Amino acid sequence: MIEALFPLARPLLHGLDAETAHDLTIRGLSLLPPRRPEADDPALAVEAFGHRFPNPVGLAAGFDKGARVADALLGLGFGFVEVGGVVPQPQPGNPRPRVFRLTRDRAVINRFGLNSEGLDAVGDRLRARAGREGIVGVNIGANKESQDRLADYVACTARLAPHVAFITVNVSSPNTPGLRDLQGEAFLDDLLARVVAARDESGSRAAVLLKIAPDIALEGLDAMTATALRRGIQGLVVSNTTVARPATLAEATLARETGGLSGRPLFGPSTRLLAETFLRVGDRIPLVGVGGIDSAEAAWTKIRAGARLVQLYSALVYEGPGLVGTIKRGLLQRLKVEGSTGLAAIVGRDAAAIARGA
Ligand SMILES: Cc1cc2nc3c(=O)[nH]c(=O)nc-3n(C[C@H](O)[C@H](O)[C@H](O)COP(=O)(O)O)c2cc1C
Repeated sequence: MIEALFPLARPLLHGLDAETAHDLTIRGLSLLPPRRPEADDPALAVEAFGHRFPNPVGLAAGFDKGARVADALLGLGFGFVEVGGVVPQPQPGNPRPRVFRLTRDRAVINRFGLNSEGLDAVGDRLRARAGREGIVGVNIGANKESQDRLADYVACTARLAPHVAFITVNVSSPNTPGLRDLQGEAFLDDLLARVVAARDESGSRAAVLLKIAPDIALEGLDAMTATALRRGIQGLVVSNTTVARPATLAEATLARETGGLSGRPLFGPSTRLLAETFLRVGDRIPLVGVGGIDSAEAAWTKIRAGARLVQLYSALVYEGPGLVGTIKRGLLQRLKVEGSTGLAAIVGRDAAAIARGA
């Protein structure tokens, strides 16, 4: 139903500034009657982090920052939903406007700056839905003004881990000054150790994932993957938005806005980084491939590059919620052509070629 309405609603939504359109979308989703997603073909099922995902197509962080509509999003057919980013204290983020549609590039630039209702509000909503069907994770960050950023991640983990399937440690948002410095090896080692300890102390079995920036150098990736494996976290999310501005962007004026670029222009760089990550970790921990997925072809390429699960956000702005079903049908079609009974055999199969840029 909502999938069929999107083509009609799109010109209206795109006539509004991007944040207002997004707020309206969240409100619309919150008004939908509860609905169970249609059962997925078992060939799409994926095992990761101790869960059986009905399909590998997830919603990326940043869409439902306040965990207001996770169940409605699962009802659209996503195999899992990552809510947040959440930080401990409520914070407004950067002044508006802070999100821009680069329509001709099928891209988005945002500099929200981790605006969040804070841990209490989001924690209460997640607690209220705990035990319901559907895989929901949460993305956590640190307050801009925090004196102890490490403590912020620990507080989020302690509070939220009991209510979610996974926690994504976001040290890769480009919009909180200094946050990406936390990707440095010594700090990261300490951070992951403390987050894992906080998860264990909470009695929860939520998986801990680390989300990385597409702008890191390969030496940085070496260090991050080694630290992640050493600290026993359960997965890596590759990648967040980029501060780079490819010369190919058609929307030259908007491209000068400060913030993280996502959508189609991020596909190439984030997929190469994903492949490089797979070459380092293999199948020791699952990878979540995110960045510029806007078709079944793009999702299939992420899987060939090493993703066991995928996520998307920006393409929803342009394609609407029908994209989820389109991708799932396309993945099934490709499995059929290959004569393969499941996605596991495809994961990372072409990582070496994709890393070389082939
Ligand atoms: C408006 C917006 C807000 C986002 N907020 C977050 C966030 O709070 N935490 C995070 O880790 N990633 C955030 N992201 C990044 C996405 O989760 C994703 O990694 C990135 O957009 C690439 O995927 P895409 O090309 O499919 O959009 C945000 C992205 C957008 C467009």
